[in-house]
Amino acid sequence: MAFRTLDDAELQGRRALVRVDFNVPMADGRVTDDTRLRAALPTIEKLRKGGARVVLLAHFDRPKGKRVPEMSLRPVVEPLSKLLGAPVAFADDCSGEGAKAAVEALPPGGVLLLENVRYEAGEEKNDPAFAQALAANGDLYVNDAFSAAHRAHASTEGLARLLPAYAGEQMRRELDALDMALGKPERPVMGIVGGAKVSTKLDLLNNLVGRLQYLAIGGGMANTFQYAQGFDVGGSLCEKDMADTAREILEKAQAAGCRIILPVDVVVAEDLKPGVASEVVKLSKDAPLGEARKIFDAGPETVTEILAAMRQSKTLIWNGPLGVFEVQPFDKATVQAAQEAARLAGSGKLVAVAGGGDTVAALNAAGVVDDFTFVSTAGGAFLEWMEGKELPGVAALSR
Ligand code: 3PG
Repeated sequence: MAFRTLDDAELQGRRALVRVDFNVPMADGRVTDDTRLRAALPTIEKLRKGGARVVLLAHFDRPKGKRVPEMSLRPVVEPLSKLLGAPVAFADDCSGEGAKAAVEALPPGGVLLLENVRYEAGEEKNDPAFAQALAANGDLYVNDAFSAAHRAHASTEGLARLLPAYAGEQMRRELDALDMALGKPERPVMGIVGGAKVSTKLDLLNNLVGRLQYLAIGGGMANTFQYAQGFDVGGSLCEKDMADTAREILEKAQAAGCRIILPVDVVVAEDLKPGVASEVVKLSKDAPLGEARKIFDAGPETVTEILAAMRQSKTLIWNGPLGVFEVQPFDKATVQAAQEAARLAGSGKLVAVAGGGDTVAALNAAGVVDDFTFVSTAGGAFLEWMEGKELPGVAALSR
């Protein structure tokens, strides 16, 4: 897909309506992780340098068309202003007279954040009248919120039909990285998919097995696959009703030439508690695990297999941890795989792209986020993109 970027835009004095994703972690009215604020800086800075008036549109949480005071974007103003090293004005409304006056007061190069677009019912309905009301305050539209691009809302999709639309710098980086990982990747391509349930990642697994050469499956969902193949998974998390589906995915992978890597050994314990007594067990149809034991991580032999496949690969796409990485000692498989991916990426042997909420936290725990080729700030949007779905916010930007 081809997009207009800010390099193509006339900026001086123009009002740029910029959709950013400031749906950031917050506690007691304070931003606790500013990754998404920092991600928006290159676009804001580029617009300011070009002399545009920067009007930021964003959502926070899910107020469902009502003014919920705890879901105000006001707490974002101070940390954003600090990061920018410039004042950021705030308007209590995202459209109407209040917003208009605040936009008019903005000097060229100035920055204004409008209140939560989801306070208005028209946002999530992608109501054309609401999109018009937003568009009234802009001369051009910039979408820099890849992580909200799976929503067909007024500020993510509708606006792109009403104003000249451009992809922001973060959006551009995301799309380039995703294209490198799954669009036109260097082969062999390996995937690592983890997480609790097969049922939430069905579309993703079905899409990936047709496109990858290796796919390592970890986390709770691996138990369902092992159960489907006749192994006893004891008291582990397992969706027994998904056994047929798991077998179908394995067959599809085989037909497509995608090698599935499932745990051959696992780390088990009776409880999920930090420092709990655990042991490594080889999965065997002759030695049932028993109800008392639960699988919380992939074992060392499995990790060796995963690392070997990674070394054979040119591209890696990763979504979801291999074990319960939040609780030690069940972080080992995830950390070791993450560190090897980072090492290979660092030496130019592997393009390593990761995304999804848990994944970023897992890579952070392994201390390797900066060594990956690209780590997406998106959760749901990254997942839908990995599922092969068209993202409305991205589609609306294409020329
Ligand atoms: C996210 O945090 O993944 C995005 O901001 C989208 O938020 P939503 O799931 O509430 O649409």
